[in-house]
Amino acid sequence: ASSSLREACESSNYSRADDEYAGVEWDNLGFGLMETDYMYMMRCGRDEEFKQGQLSRYGNIELSPSAGVLNYGQGLFEGTKAFRREDGGLFLFRPQENAIRMQIGAQRMCMPCPSVEQFLDAVKQTALANRRWIPPPGKGSLYIRPLLMGSGPVLGLAPASEYTFLVYASPVGNYFKEATAPLNLYVEDEFHRAARGGAGGVKSITNYAPVLKAIARARDRGFSDVLYLDSINKRNIEEVSSCNVFILKGNILSTPATNGTILAGVTRKSIIDIARDLGYEVEERSIPIEELINADEIFCTGTAVGVAPVGSITYKGNRIEYKTSTQLLSQKLYSRLTGIQRGIIKDNRGWIIEI
Ligand code: COI
Repeated sequence: ASSSLREACESSNYSRADDEYAGVEWDNLGFGLMETDYMYMMRCGRDEEFKQGQLSRYGNIELSPSAGVLNYGQGLFEGTKAFRREDGGLFLFRPQENAIRMQIGAQRMCMPCPSVEQFLDAVKQTALANRRWIPPPGKGSLYIRPLLMGSGPVLGLAPASEYTFLVYASPVGNYFKEATAPLNLYVEDEFHRAARGGAGGVKSITNYAPVLKAIARARDRGFSDVLYLDSINKRNIEEVSSCNVFILKGNILSTPATNGTILAGVTRKSIIDIARDLGYEVEERSIPIEELINADEIFCTGTAVGVAPVGSITYKGNRIEYKTSTQLLSQKLYSRLTGIQRGIIKDNRGWIIEI
């Protein structure tokens, strides 16, 4: 643990008990919020840089009713995970990618942003201070949620006068209630996730509430989630509500190109590299919905979701089913990704950071 962590923990009543496991039913983790012990917070003004943050006990925060984030959605979030290995070591997976993505998003949303070093330090401190909530090896991970928001008051539409960077964490298991079973996706042709020129390419909080209605409608009809089409042609596949999407045909793995409406997922990027290592050709391009009819396999990727196979898609009343077996590429990619995270497969690219 870094000295700043020790100091922070000492000043927030950190105790030896924090080194033991929290009393959690580790076998039944889903993706629900479990309040953990500590969060990290750092504030700065509109034309300032973030300087020094600190850990505090997890709890509610105070915000002005006219905070920019509450009134105009000036906010970004990130998601990254901490893992525990068999030997007790604690690791993060590519958190620099989240730090850089937050910087790109902050520019888009007119916010100051922590430096990469500040972001990494905050994520590490939050993970270590909540280490008793990092599940036992193979049981899940500690999902770490950095937030950046316009916390200062505004009335007219303008950037907030003050910004808050906050990191909290929760232990998680499978994202979908389907667990590892294949997903049944509904292809949405009324609602869109993002539009050209909008903020779909960054992790703005404003990209997420607008899909809730589409998800609710699909769930009511018995689907797992929604696959969105581009808003201009209503033809090219974009993303699923909380994850990126890949399609396999023969030896070619394709995924929608990050053209401003697609989130540049950290798992997406990692899976592209792993698939190439396995000898697949990977294309980032526009993928018309008709291509899904003859696809060999479809799967989703995301930090929260991991790698999730798709069992069917339904478009304009037609359901296309995909083969499901343990021989799927998605299964191989998932094993390799988690193998790297668990230290069973060599990490040749420096993706894993010990904390
Ligand atoms: C993640 O995968 O980390 C995300 O941010 C998706 C979120 C909707 C759970």
